[in-house]
Amino acid sequence: MNIRKWAFTDNKAIEKLEKAYFEDPWNMQMLSGSFLLDNFIGYVAEDGGEIKGYVGATYCLDEGEILLVAVKSDVRRKGVASQLLEKVETELCDKGVNRILLEVRRSNAAAIRCYEKFGFTILTVRKGYYQGKEDALIMEKKRD
Ligand SMILES: CC(C)(COP(=O)(O)OP(=O)(O)OC[C@H]1O[C@@H](n2cnc3c(N)ncnc32)[C@H](O)[C@@H]1OP(=O)(O)O)[C@@H](O)C(=O)NCCC(=O)NCCS
Repeated sequence: MNIRKWAFTDNKAIEKLEKAYFEDPWNMQMLSGSFLLDNFIGYVAEDGGEIKGYVGATYCLDEGEILLVAVKSDVRRKGVASQLLEKVETELCDKGVNRILLEVRRSNAAAIRCYEKFGFTILTVRKGYYQGKEDALIMEKKRD
């Protein structure tokens, strides 16, 4: 698995994965708009020319936010998300970030466990954040 920077031409494959794995997927316009921001950082996991996973983040001053993470179902539990998170965290730290935030559905046990293993803790809960139906957990990781 090759972990490399997210390129604009990856957006099509990423849009497909977004549709496959999320109820509220990012569309091409959202992906392209974010990618073009100066403060966007993204990495993809590629295997044999196929995008198997991705992570996207932004930052402002000393705070970063993970916006997107997903790994294709056929390569899960092989450490791909962990490698992507490691890469993005390293670059965020290089930019001066010392606190990273993200939000995740309360029902997404796999993602919550993955983030916890990576050092995130639950900061707060936003009740009914997703269409008034599901809570969002806001998770945080601070630089030691
Ligand atoms: C969440 C997700 C990104 C994890 O990707 P992954 O590459 O499988 O994660 P990793 O292999 O790096 O797993 C790291 C740790 O997370 C935890 N974990 C990951 N998937 C898990 C699962 N299904 N059940 C329990 N724990 C899990 C484990 O502790 C794992 O370590 P271990 O395998 O040594 O036990 C992946 O399941 C996914 O793409 N899900 C759909 C999209 C999504 O929900 N994205 C997050 C949105 S907030």
